[in-house]
Amino acid sequence: MTAQALPNDLEPFWMPFTANRHFKKAPRLLAEAKDMHYSTPEGRKILDATAGLWCVNAGHGREKIVKAVQAQVAKLDFAPSFNVGHPIAFELAARLTSMVPGYSQVFYTNSGSESVDTALKIALAYQRAIGQGTRTRLIGRERGYHGVGFGGMSVGGMVANRKIWGPSMLNGVDHIRHTHDPEKNAFSKGQPEWGAHLADDLERLVALHDASTIAAVIVEPVAGSTGVLVPPKGYLQRLRQICDKHGILLIFDEVITGFGRLGASFATEYFGVKPDLFTTAKGISNATIPMGAVFCRKGIYDAFMNGPEGMIEVFHGYTYSAHPVACAAALATLDIYREEGLFERAAELSPYWQEAVHSMKGLPNVIDIRNLGLTAGIELSPRPNAPPTSRGMDAHLKAFEKGVMVRFSGETICMSPPLIISKGQIDQIVDTVTDVIKTIH
Ligand SMILES: Cc1ncc(COP(=O)(O)O)c(C=O)c1O
Repeated sequence: MTAQALPNDLEPFWMPFTANRHFKKAPRLLAEAKDMHYSTPEGRKILDATAGLWCVNAGHGREKIVKAVQAQVAKLDFAPSFNVGHPIAFELAARLTSMVPGYSQVFYTNSGSESVDTALKIALAYQRAIGQGTRTRLIGRERGYHGVGFGGMSVGGMVANRKIWGPSMLNGVDHIRHTHDPEKNAFSKGQPEWGAHLADDLERLVALHDASTIAAVIVEPVAGSTGVLVPPKGYLQRLRQICDKHGILLIFDEVITGFGRLGASFATEYFGVKPDLFTTAKGISNATIPMGAVFCRKGIYDAFMNGPEGMIEVFHGYTYSAHPVACAAALATLDIYREEGLFERAAELSPYWQEAVHSMKGLPNVIDIRNLGLTAGIELSPRPNAPPTSRGMDAHLKAFEKGVMVRFSGETICMSPPLIISKGQIDQIVDTVTDVIKTIH
């Protein structure tokens, strides 16, 4: 790899979810990527323990995807999907719905945030379409992350993502409790035994607002961005039962859990719980071209297919819904997942991963370790008298110096490697993070 010139002015790019001033004083730049590694402009290799941002599930620079994108952009660079269509959008929809029984349509978006807002809008419109128009309330969960649109932000439950915009939140949103209790389920391997009853918190909100006002509940099956919170055994099943009892739609936000992250196609398959709608993005196209899709269970679409046939049924969609180049990237990605058995591979590796990450129990300041599939969160105690997230940030910086990219959320080190990772690379991640934790005080 050749060394590349550094950009000489970092100021014009207002970076997302970044400490801009801090970063621009000592930038961490990524110039190239292949398989499990990034390379810096100086040619230093960084092992990717985060699959980019929980999204490059098949690893970087996959030739099949690159070729599919190149061919598609030359053949059909763009075609709208409003009242016209292009063939691979339909082919991809058929492939996607065939991956998960019981779901008959997908609605295309370009990101997780758009998938969430789309799912919330479909839920509200569906309730109205079936004569339940009083159901206008949306329920999220504390510590949930559902992207940054006004809908997703409103049902989300991470304070830093909400507090500035408080008065602009959607009206009529409420939240159930999150599922994490450090006293009861710290250091659980996989799903905690304790906490299924926390789903009953939905009954509290039904008692407060009445079911006739509630359209839908949205949760991440495994909460990722808040620091990997794994649902207690039986929790999601119970949530499903309560939703059924009260005619409330259940939405899973599978933007992270979809496409093999847990060692199954989707969390719905992994947990055996069927939401009415579930959102996806990220791994759908291996992040090569932005894309998302909302999966709808059988019957949802049909509820809209009435009225005059020549009329648009739902006034919603994006210019880039089903962008042909994104569709081509997604089809190639699905081929790789299938041909290489990557979801099964993730399932096979997850016990090794689990033991590896839990080997860090007992290190200084480690107060919890959580994992499921190929995800892990290692929570550090906050530094007394320091700004929040300072230990988490240090862990990220020091690991990067040592050639491993991890994320941090608050004080939790988050990891979600590409599903092509080897056992040796798992060891490298754990050895590096172990060293890092020992050096941050
Ligand atoms: C569960 C979940 N929902 C939604 C989003 C938002 O996705 P995007 O950043 O593509 O808008 C994310 C992003 O990490 C996510 O983890």
